[in-house]
Amino acid sequence: MRIPLIAGNWKMNKTIDEAKAFMQAVSEQVTDPADVETAIAAPALLLSTMLANNPGQKLRIAAEDCYWEDAGAFTGETSPQALAAMKITYVIVGHSERRAYFNETDDTINRKVHAVYRNQMTPILCCDETMGRLEAGEKIHWVVSQVTGALKGITEEQARQLIIAYEPSWAIGSGKSASAEQVEEGCYLIRQTVADLYSDDVANEMRVLYGGSVNPENIDSIMAKPNIDGVLAGGASLNAETYLQLVHYQK
Ligand code: PGA
Repeated sequence: MRIPLIAGNWKMNKTIDEAKAFMQAVSEQVTDPADVETAIAAPALLLSTMLANNPGQKLRIAAEDCYWEDAGAFTGETSPQALAAMKITYVIVGHSERRAYFNETDDTINRKVHAVYRNQMTPILCCDETMGRLEAGEKIHWVVSQVTGALKGITEEQARQLIIAYEPSWAIGSGKSASAEQVEEGCYLIRQTVADLYSDDVANEMRVLYGGSVNPENIDSIMAKPNIDGVLAGGASLNAETYLQLVHYQK
């Protein structure tokens, strides 16, 4: 049984005061993690405030990115070792905005996936897909190559813990979510890719999320599909009330 995960991605939003107010409104209202797990990925600057305002620790606190070395002369980067020492649970790796604006490649994303596991955290590995590729019928090749590239050298035991988010870039921040059928197809494709790389057993254990304009209106139909284990919501996770609506989706 895969436990659903309702994750938020704040991107480069919120101040310390705003993060604190969100935690006060949300942290005790989320579901029992044994039933539905919840997580918010926030900018590194806000993580200590969030961890300090999380009584009961039901909400997992996640980072949006990290560097692939543990520590050293890498000005401006976020250390995975420091994130682990803070008790960060998940780290988003390879978000399409990182790929598009910061030139991240399958190779650098693969190094980051290794760094996250090496520091006993779990990656939320994002793979995207563009409308152009979808129309050109290249979707399968593109998604498979991103997943395969990101998982080079990752062991079967590590892959069992993995979370992959399927995020068509045309659906991110556009208000136009992919249909529940398109999402199911993308998530199924990712699970099959993991089955080919490892085994059916591993593929059935790892979780696949969908991201791209998820909101309280469309979450129920998305979550009803068998291969979708949760969501990664951007805009809808910024508001406490809306995020709680996602968390309490209709099962
Ligand atoms: P969105 O972002 O929900 O605002 O479309 C999703 C994401 O980028 O993870």
